[in-house]
Amino acid sequence: MVKHNFPKKVHIREVGPRDGLQNESNFIQTEDKIEWINLLSASGLSYIEVTSFVNPTWIPALSDAELVAKQINKFDEVTYAALVPNMKGLTRALESKIDEVSVFISASETHNKKNINKTITETETVLSEVVRESIANNKTVRGYISTVFGCPYEGNVEIEKIIRLSDSLFEMGIDELSLGDTIGIANPLQVNFVLEELLKRYPADKIAMHFHNTRGTAMANVLASLEMGITKIDSSIGGLGGCPYAPGASGNLATDDLNYMLTGMGIQTNINSDKLHAAALFIQDKMNKPLESHSLKYSSTN
Ligand code: HMG
Ligand code: MG
Repeated sequence: MVKHNFPKKVHIREVGPRDGLQNESNFIQTEDKIEWINLLSASGLSYIEVTSFVNPTWIPALSDAELVAKQINKFDEVTYAALVPNMKGLTRALESKIDEVSVFISASETHNKKNINKTITETETVLSEVVRESIANNKTVRGYISTVFGCPYEGNVEIEKIIRLSDSLFEMGIDELSLGDTIGIANPLQVNFVLEELLKRYPADKIAMHFHNTRGTAMANVLASLEMGITKIDSSIGGLGGCPYAPGASGNLATDDLNYMLTGMGIQTNINSDKLHAAALFIQDKMNKPLESHSLKYSSTN
């Protein structure tokens, strides 16, 4: 028997309703989003990022954030999170009774500026207040760092920048850090390199990995992460996704493909694959186009 070092259980962070839809020019009707999120909740997923409380003129696809957050059926065993860029977003998220607040910042100045119209330093000032107020309101907080493995405008991003921002976010009080490969450029050796540095400073259960699959390397990067002890992986049902302010950013790693691989490896996810598939088919139908996940493509031919 070959020895391996994979975890027994992996927590999938479903980001489809947020990262999956934010880049879509097609507006998915609010009632369809709600029905879809309810299907995702019923599949056994324990974490769903349901929307974004960003400026709706920047992300029109999620301009119905309040309605979605308030009208979904909330399952006790599911954490419902939403993206929050500033205090205005936090006020909206708190009124909408979101469980967890997700703040975000880029490791590269140009992407940060294009994505949230501020310098990294200005953003840190905003986020420290958002994190402080979230904690004061008994919310857990997730912190994303984008462009960890490369920036569409600046290219390579030095590890020192990732370490400095990680320290800054943890000092603010975040509970979990998600490292974003925003434009799907990473390879497993880069993942090893970045994680080796971060795991010297933080325990593995504080770190999640967020891979986009632009160049087909996301699953290999997951495996590299699991081998290093990571147990939290972000993914998006059907492989939906992308950042409108990162040219070339395509879909996220697909939840259905990820769940297939993990369960096949005997790694627990607690997700019912038939119910997950039903949620994937539902949104594919509403989007009226074939989605990217291999599981969906395979099922359409069988
Ligand atoms: P700004 O224009 O600089 O904001 O945008 P401002 O503070 O100057 O305000 C301008 C107007 O926006 C004001 O309204 C504000 O009230 C309003 P006016 O007085 O003109 O009527 N406003 C808001 N309205 C609703 N909700 C808010 C809000 N904030 C201000 N929260 C801002 C700055 C950050 C708001 C804008 O740049 C923005 O919304 N950016 C979001 C972009 C985004 O969502 N990008 C994608 C998510 S990040 C990502 O995908 C990466 C990730 O997946 C990880 C990875 O893959 O690496 C997380
Ligand atoms: Mg993303």
